[in-house]
Order: sequence, then structure tokens, then C-alpha cells
Amino acid sequence: MQTRLAANPLKVSLAACVASLWLAACGAAGVSPEMLTRAQSHDSSATEATITHGKTVYEAKCGTCHALPLPSAHSAEEWPEWVKKMAPQAKLSADDEKAVLHYVLAASGE
Ligand code: HEC
Repeated sequence: MQTRLAANPLKVSLAACVASLWLAACGAAGVSPEMLTRAQSHDSSATEATITHGKTVYEAKCGTCHALPLPSAHSAEEWPEWVKKMAPQAKLSADDEKAVLHYVLAASGE
């Protein structure tokens, strides 16, 4: 394996590139295992996909009337109330509302 890789630098750099792309994509979504655990401790239906989707919706819909609040600005206890209150303001579907909640819970820092 070692010899074959060394003998084929193109394959090696391609693999490194794919790996770094994967890491970049992973970093962009930014869902760490800790975030997933935190969201799931409040809502067991949270997944990496709902958190990632929630972040997209949050950034698109929640910064139009006011500055985008920092997820860390409110505790995991406060967020459900705010999301419930703001979801109709942002005209979120039930699924999007849930995803936004998963994201802010995951990113709230508690
Ligand atoms: C149609 C305009 C509008 C949209 C869209 C909107 N908000 Fe708000 N938001 C407000 C207003 C007005 C207040 C202040 C009134 C209040 O305190 O109830 C507020 C206050 C807040 C607050 C409390 C103050 C703060 O900055 O911490 C939070 C948190 C919040 N919004 C989150 C959200 C989230 C999350 C979304 C997306 C789901 C959202 N908002 C979308 C109008 C909006």
C-alpha cells in the first residue's frame, strides 16, 4: 500500500484533495458531535441534517427584520420560546421551524 501510493503521486494528491474537500464541507456545516448531542438532549429528533438545514434557514430568514441574533445570545431554555414566537414572523414551515430550533439549540453553547 505504502509503495503503491508513493509510486503514484497523482493518486496521493487526489486523495488528499478529496479528504480536504470533505473536511471543508464538514467545517462549513459546522455540526460537531458536541452540537449534535446538545440539540438531541433537548429534542431527540435532531440530526446533523436538520441542524445543517436549520442553519441555512436561520441565516436566510432570521436576519431580515433585525440583525441575526447570535445563537449564544440565548440559552437552550430560552430559544424554544423565541423560535415559537418568531417562526410566524419569518413564515417558516413546521419543518423549517423545527430545524431552526435544532440549529440554535446546537449552537447555543449550553
Ligand atoms: C417580520 C420581522 C421578523 C422576522 C422575520 C424575525 N424576527 Fe425576530 N424579532 C422581530 C421583532 C419585531 C423583535 C422584537 C420584539 C419582541 O421582543 O418580541 C424580534 C426579536 C427577536 C429576538 C429577541 C431579541 C434578540 O435579538 O435576541 C430573537 C432571539 C429573535 N427575534 C429571533 C428570531 C428568529 C430565530 C427568527 C427566524 C425564525 C426571527 N427572529 C425572524 C421581528 C422579526
